Amino acid sequence: MSVLRGKKILLGVTGGIAAYKTTYLVRLLVKAGASVKVVMTPAARDFVTPLSLSTLSKNPVVSHFTDEEDENDTWNNHVELGLWSDLMIIAPATANTLSKMVSGNIDNLLLAVYCSAKCPVYFAPAMDLDMYKHPSTQHNFDRLEAYGNHMIPSGEGELASGLSGKGRMAEPEEIIDFIQLHIESRLPLKGRKCMVTAGPTHERIDPVRFIGNHSSGKMGVAVALELAAKGSEVILIMGPSAVNVEHELIKRVDVTSAQDMYDAVHQNLTDIHVAIFSAAVADYRPATPAEQKIKKQSETLTLDLVKNPDILASVGAMKNKPFLVGFALETENELDHAFAKAEKKQTDLLILNSMRDKGAGFGKDTNKISIIDKNKNVKAFDTKLKAEVAKDIVDEIIKQMGL
Ligand code: C5P
Repeated sequence: MSVLRGKKILLGVTGGIAAYKTTYLVRLLVKAGASVKVVMTPAARDFVTPLSLSTLSKNPVVSHFTDEEDENDTWNNHVELGLWSDLMIIAPATANTLSKMVSGNIDNLLLAVYCSAKCPVYFAPAMDLDMYKHPSTQHNFDRLEAYGNHMIPSGEGELASGLSGKGRMAEPEEIIDFIQLHIESRLPLKGRKCMVTAGPTHERIDPVRFIGNHSSGKMGVAVALELAAKGSEVILIMGPSAVNVEHELIKRVDVTSAQDMYDAVHQNLTDIHVAIFSAAVADYRPATPAEQKIKKQSETLTLDLVKNPDILASVGAMKNKPFLVGFALETENELDHAFAKAEKKQTDLLILNSMRDKGAGFGKDTNKISIIDKNKNVKAFDTKLKAEVAKDIVDEIIKQMGL
């Protein structure tokens, strides 16, 4: 899965002949799963039409501060566009635009957006070989990199002028490869291995019945996906759940009972850097599951239950344990119970959610959490989508581990 999936990308197109290649670049970005918006300099419109780029990006293309074709004369808000984007690509980047990016000479919408953008900016220079070699251009490359922008090197070959040399814009595929590799190499969990437990467990009563709970596994899956998005390999040990998960970095191990989950956790613990136990594990299981379906006979039926192993506590008690994150779902005296649980299970972080909070708990798409660290510091978060909650949890792990 491409690291560009789900990213909001702003493509800045300037007035060079290589602008015609941006139609293909937009196609590739959309194919990689990115949302793309295009901003052009007025000169770029002579080389490629806004209609082509808006059709391919499925978004309006802007090139002026006000939309003169619109009778209402809407204001194209450069600050909003700059803040919308997760990353900006300026391709082709002409010598003229590069020079204005260095000096902050904002005489068109693209430059205003560039100066307002807080996201990483990549630029792919495109110009004739002598312009490329010129000391002022070379100086501008250096300055732009010193400002924190990322240069996508130009290629060598035949140029539009008929001359041959360095200055061709990198091909669209090369631009995408460069950005993907660059993002991947900077992912904070790259090279790490994490374990996540998720979902409920089913404890067998007889061949057709079990003791279970309402956990959907959505929170754990969201955490696994966020860890993978940050570059980690993930072993997801999952109780019975209808939630699907597909990611090349996530290996799913399906289990049924608490004992299965305990075994799978301990078999896979080698080289795990972070373990996040979000599963709703049954505390008890029937002592002796019946071989055959239990028949309806007496008015009451008593099941003998025995305690399941506490998986989280068993890892917490290990000497060389991974960075350990547990969950606590409480119904009353939430903080006190959570502090006690963190101590008992020796977690590095405990994620507390309360059944009393609206928008939190089993099966929902949202959750409301507080994160408790080893020093009993509590960070409380608002109700959010589980994907966003997962991001808060993973960001806190990365911060605590100093990655
Ligand atoms: O004690 P309690 O069940 O509230 O603890 C919840 C935390 O402990 C969760 O992180 C859960 O995944 C973990 N747990 C476990 N094994 C159990 C019970 C809970 O790993 N048998």
